[in-house]
Amino acid sequence: MNNIVSPSILSCDFLNIENEIKAFENAENLWIHLDVMDGHFVPNLTFGIPIIKQLSQMTSLPLDAHLMVTNPEFHMDQMKDFGLKNITFHYEAVENCLGLVQKFRKFYDSIGISIKPKTEINKIDDELLKALDLVLVMSVEPGFGGQSFIPSSIDKIKELVERRTKLNTNFSIQVDGGVSDQNSRILRDAGASNLVAGSYIFKASQADYLLMANSIR
Ligand code: DX5
Ligand code: ZN
Repeated sequence: MNNIVSPSILSCDFLNIENEIKAFENAENLWIHLDVMDGHFVPNLTFGIPIIKQLSQMTSLPLDAHLMVTNPEFHMDQMKDFGLKNITFHYEAVENCLGLVQKFRKFYDSIGISIKPKTEINKIDDELLKALDLVLVMSVEPGFGGQSFIPSSIDKIKELVERRTKLNTNFSIQVDGGVSDQNSRILRDAGASNLVAGSYIFKASQADYLLMANSIR
C-alpha cells in the first residue's frame, strides 16, 4: 500500500485557494483533504457543495471530503457526480452507517467513516468495517485546525490493524489532527497509510508545501 499524504486546505489561504491547491499539482499519492463543517455537528463552519464542485472542476488532484456534518446523506447525495476520490462521514452522526455506505456504494469509489477521539474502536461492528474503504482516526476533536495531537490515537490505529487482519478485509487507515514530522513515523509504523496535515504543511511558504507534505510520508 502506498503512503498517502492529504494536505487539509482548512489551513490554506482561502483568498488564494486556486494557487494553494496548484502548489501540489502532479504530486503522486497526494489527496486534497476538504473539511466540510456545518456549524452543528461541530461548532465551526467551513465550505460545502458549491465550492467543492468548483474545486473538482479546477484540479485533477484527488479530492478527499471529510464530512463533519449532522446529515451526511444530503452531502453524499449532492456530491455523487463530482468524481471525488473518497468521501468520509462521521460514525457518531449516523445511526445506520452500514445502510449509508450501501446506499452510496455505486456512486463512490471509496467511502470511509471517521471516529472522534472518544469513540472506541470496539463499538464499530464487523459488518461495517468489512464494507469500508477507509477508517479515519481523528487525533484531535474535530472542528479546528492547529490543535495538539492526542497520543492515544496510536493505540486506536493498532487496534484497527488487528481488526482488519482478523476480518481479512482491507480498509485503509487515515489519521487527521496534529500530524507533523514529529509523529508521522510512529503513525506510519502503527499502520496509518494516509496522513492528513493542515497547519504543518500550510505554515510553510507555498514553494515548500510539497516538501512539507513529503516529509510526513
Ligand atoms: C479538523 C480537521 C482537520 C484539520 C487538521 O477537524 O478535520 O483536517 O484541518 O488540522 P491540523 O493538521 O492543523 O491539526
Ligand atoms: Zn479533516
